[in-house]
Amino acid sequence: MSKILVIDDTPEYISMLTSLLLEYEVFAARDGKKGLQLAEMILPDLILLDINMPLMTGYEVCRRLKLINKVKEIPVIFLTANDGSDFEEIGFKMGAVDYIAKPFNASVLKARVKTHIDLYKLQSNLQQQVDQSVEEIRKLNHEITFISASIAELKSKETGQHLRRVSEFCYLICKFLGKNESECEKIKIASVLHDIGKVGIPDTILNKPEKLTSNEWKIMETHSQLGYDMLVDSEFESMQLAAKIALEHHERWDGTGYPMGKVGENISLVGRICSVADVFDSLLDRRVYKDPWEGQRVKEYFEKMSGTQFDPQIASILLENFDMFIDTWKSMQKLKREE
Ligand SMILES: [Fe+2]
Ligand SMILES: [Fe+2]
Repeated sequence: MSKILVIDDTPEYISMLTSLLLEYEVFAARDGKKGLQLAEMILPDLILLDINMPLMTGYEVCRRLKLINKVKEIPVIFLTANDGSDFEEIGFKMGAVDYIAKPFNASVLKARVKTHIDLYKLQSNLQQQVDQSVEEIRKLNHEITFISASIAELKSKETGQHLRRVSEFCYLICKFLGKNESECEKIKIASVLHDIGKVGIPDTILNKPEKLTSNEWKIMETHSQLGYDMLVDSEFESMQLAAKIALEHHERWDGTGYPMGKVGENISLVGRICSVADVFDSLLDRRVYKDPWEGQRVKEYFEKMSGTQFDPQIASILLENFDMFIDTWKSMQKLKREE
């Protein structure tokens, strides 16, 4: 049953409306303050609001309703005296959808109430469907990104969860940098693709257990540019971000990285974040060319390389919260084993 909230200081009007609107669940408040409280509590499908009330006018109640997220979309119909003392125009400006003159004509009142409740329900359903679709697309996007990135990972036989962990560490660093949730989430997804360019590197180089020759290194290093080239033409902002990360995650703060040898803040922030996250995970992880490092050794490495390989601000975020990052790493390892 749809709910209607009547806010009116005249008890006769409240009882009249209650008896007229029998097919609805009618709630009533006799002043603005109580009306506002009740609106938030019951979330009605329509509010019938008297304009002339002591303490708080209907205009003010309406203005306040429109400031409360939970209730601001609920349609408000003003109940106006028919003597010209109320200004319907102001009511519309305040966000009301309609007005009904007192004394009421029962059938007009019922018709208007029904129309606005139907419209509101239709609108809410549509909004719900849109929200659902947006959420599905977001999940699909996430999943496809992981699947694409996993292709490169499979080829290089790196341990399965490297990408998920790097993306999680990027997210955490972003949070510590004070970025908002949506920015952190964007970097989390985009960073999954940082090594996508490895699909273009021969398996013999990717999986060589011995030290690479300088020529092989040169080929290996092209994975940054290859990844960038794969992603950069996308029309989607998230893929543009991924392209930037793919290109710059091996740049070093002191300018000795690749492919461009960018220095300091000339390297994009996302590139600098991913560099820390990627190296942190690679050192802890087993690779064809190395055994896993102990936490303490990884910590010392970051202490030593802060300001040379890594942006000192980002390295210090990792170092100051080192145990937390290690715990996250361990819990993600555990998840992997349980899968
Ligand atoms: Fe890489
Ligand atoms: Fe990586």
